[in-house]
Amino acid sequence: MSKKKVRFGVIGCGLMGKEFASAVSRWCHLLDTEAEPQIVAVCDANLAAAMWFTSHFPSIRHVTKDYRGLLSLAEIDAIYCAVPHHLHAELYTAIIRAGKHLLGEKPFGIDRLANEQVLEAISERPDVVVRCSSELPFFPGGLKVYDFVRKGNVGKVIEVEAGFLHSSDLNPQKPINWKRRIATNGEYGCMGDLGMHVLHLPLRLGWKPRNVRAILSNLVEQRPEADGSLVPCETWDNATLLCEVKADSHVFPMSLSMKRIAPGHNNTWFIRVLGMEGSVEFSTKNPKELRTMLYRPGGEQAWRTEDLPYASAYPTITGNIFEFGFSDAILQMWAAFCDEVVNGPNMHQPFTCATPQEAAFTHQLFSAALESHRKGVIVNLE
Ligand SMILES: NC(=O)c1ccc[n+]([C@@H]2O[C@H](COP(=O)([O-])OP(=O)(O)OC[C@H]3O[C@@H](n4cnc5c(N)ncnc54)[C@H](O)[C@@H]3O)[C@@H](O)[C@H]2O)c1
Repeated sequence: MSKKKVRFGVIGCGLMGKEFASAVSRWCHLLDTEAEPQIVAVCDANLAAAMWFTSHFPSIRHVTKDYRGLLSLAEIDAIYCAVPHHLHAELYTAIIRAGKHLLGEKPFGIDRLANEQVLEAISERPDVVVRCSSELPFFPGGLKVYDFVRKGNVGKVIEVEAGFLHSSDLNPQKPINWKRRIATNGEYGCMGDLGMHVLHLPLRLGWKPRNVRAILSNLVEQRPEADGSLVPCETWDNATLLCEVKADSHVFPMSLSMKRIAPGHNNTWFIRVLGMEGSVEFSTKNPKELRTMLYRPGGEQAWRTEDLPYASAYPTITGNIFEFGFSDAILQMWAAFCDEVVNGPNMHQPFTCATPQEAAFTHQLFSAALESHRKGVIVNLE
């Protein structure tokens, strides 16, 4: 199959910028993809961060400290932007208005106002594909949960639980960084960091909370700087949101956990759907395992546990007998984005990256969650 090149600029050469570049470098892992990304330019305010890219990718012809230098380049089709949250609105709006396709990192603006600015730019450029990064539903188990529900196996929903759990912040000696400061990470704290991941599948299944009661915790109030001096650590570490969802004229509870201090958890993303006819659960803690239960009145209540084959949205060279991991999910998300850039609505499989509308709803929910916690009340979203 002849490949259609998507020429990328990367803005933000940190942790996630490198994950994207690594996915590009093993694009040969994917079978039969029409689209093929190529990194032609990189930008980072700290030029030293760009050196890893230039030493690994001979295709890079431009390196700059100023993102505007990338936007004027006609040879760039699309941009991956992975920078601190306070920069999202300025950079995303400029990228979109320059007519470049954009995969932007979550939370898609540091707050609701910033997110609205991004949405305004999107409304001016319907020709540009804009998506928000959220890779974890691309685990085969995540996609299986989605299919199980969409096929109508659940019946009346009893409840839904979803969450994303980390634990490295349990260590109070972990140094402060931009992700622990309100000025750069935002008032949402852990919700802005982890929330799009938690809500991607529920929102895609049509489960929009209509209200929320949130409890937020700031467990470690000071952290060391590089020189050892203690400075305020202002952001919320943990958030528990209890929501009501109305679907098919039936109301059910949905609880959403976003925690940076969940002892023992290391990037645990999970979703559990309990229904009167069928239940399903998946967690990246046991990345091969899918648990389902189909129930008929009076029948057995027996969970079935399946070791999932490596069955990804986009087929790869990896055999079914092997297992799937984080960098595979990143590769699959990028395959979906590039497929959509090249094929639009005729993309090869139906699960798209998170949409700007989904990201916008997370802002509505997290703003309501902040209010709920501040006032100690349930806040309506409708
Ligand atoms: N999808 C995921 O799983 C995931 C995981 C972690 C982070 N993220 C998101 O990715 C984004 C970046 O996070 P990260 O962990 O890669 O951060 P990082 O700190 O590792 O990298 C950010 C990079 O941006 C650069 N930068 C700062 N200001 C800049 C500017 N004005 N112009 C150009 N570059 C600039 C920094 O020098 C740094 O190299 C955030 O939105 C974060 O929420 C997503």
